[in-house]
Amino acid sequence: MIDISPSSILSHLPPYLFTKISLLKKEAFEKKLDVIDLGMGNPDMPTPAHIVDILCDSIKHHKNTHRYPQAKGIPKFRKAIVQWMSRRFGVELDYENEVLALIGSKEGIAHICMAYLEAKDYALVCDPSYPVHFNGVALAGAKIFRMPLLEKNNYLPDFTKIPTKILQKTKIMFLNYPNNPTAAVVEDLSFWKETIHFCKKYDILLVSDNAYSELTFGNYYAPSIFEFSGAKNVALEFHSFSKTFNMAGWRLGWVCGNKKLLYPLEKFKSFLDYGPPLFIQLAGVAALNGHQNCIRELSRVYEKRMQKMVHGLKKNGWKAKETKATMYVWAGLPNCLAKEGSLSVAERLLKETGVVVSPGVSFGESGEGYARMSLVTHDKRFHDALIRISKFTKSAMQNHS
Ligand SMILES: Cc1ncc(COP(=O)(O)O)c(C=O)c1O
Repeated sequence: MIDISPSSILSHLPPYLFTKISLLKKEAFEKKLDVIDLGMGNPDMPTPAHIVDILCDSIKHHKNTHRYPQAKGIPKFRKAIVQWMSRRFGVELDYENEVLALIGSKEGIAHICMAYLEAKDYALVCDPSYPVHFNGVALAGAKIFRMPLLEKNNYLPDFTKIPTKILQKTKIMFLNYPNNPTAAVVEDLSFWKETIHFCKKYDILLVSDNAYSELTFGNYYAPSIFEFSGAKNVALEFHSFSKTFNMAGWRLGWVCGNKKLLYPLEKFKSFLDYGPPLFIQLAGVAALNGHQNCIRELSRVYEKRMQKMVHGLKKNGWKAKETKATMYVWAGLPNCLAKEGSLSVAERLLKETGVVVSPGVSFGESGEGYARMSLVTHDKRFHDALIRISKFTKSAMQNHS
């Protein structure tokens, strides 16, 4: 065997959160535990039939879809995105220059770091955060400044806490609302206006990760950053088909915004990939142009699951609140478990009850004291999950007292 080590950047990164959870799940399956998986945000419901049909038809009857695609996305796909953004948010974009197809938004978020950042640069990353916001910066060899998202601040970052010295070296800020993992939303829209002003003042590229814009409940409306004046001068917005259309495994997304800000990512990707497969892009067109009732139905399912889970958790001493968006419950550990720490609690919960949750600390140090539960299992399983969590918590209470 040759003696060779991976790059020091890669070696210093801990294994990806869900790689660890998968190993624990494997052990649980081997022990024949009945696993209820609320870990990864991996939608359990199928992709709507009208989207699947277009994929099957394209791949079977249109042989040209087997060829290399156009790296930035075929015009038909980019036009469908532009029209959807206009209908959905009233935002006008140029399909030639202001949209780029992605092989899932995770791919684009990781690569935008490599397109812009180098060792001397900082990126502002929320803590807790979707792990790729941290890991993309780390893989680019740049530095991370953590912006804690605290419950007392409604999980919004406090820009006044960032030293000016850091701001002078900062190139990118990541924001994600509706938020993973906290499920927080921006209620006061002046936040977006202040953020745009702030980014302009310090020459910071605002990466707005809008993966959950469509999974909203009741009357809550999640905007696009481009609805706010001046946004096109500072921001790029990332979108995903994964949650909106239950297309997580299809790997399809897009990023949009000003041509000048977008171009470095397009250039970077042109050296790496050819964009999403043509038949996947055509299915994406069907998703965007087709009826959107499926999204409302999906949101309603998540809303009901959220209400059930929050209610059940609260009864058992967990600190959870009803949310306005996403597919997650961000639950504060009950007092009897708080000292143990979220990692150990999540591991024990899985080993002892078969319920998989994500430890809050794995989304960043400010996530300690919480667990994230993804609402991605059959409706009937939430009842079982809550019974098991209840027994687990009661036993911890007895040991605690
Ligand atoms: C905030 C956020 N952004 C981006 C993604 C990645 O989405 P995609 O499947 O399009 O890569 C996720 C997936 O969980 C996410 O939670």
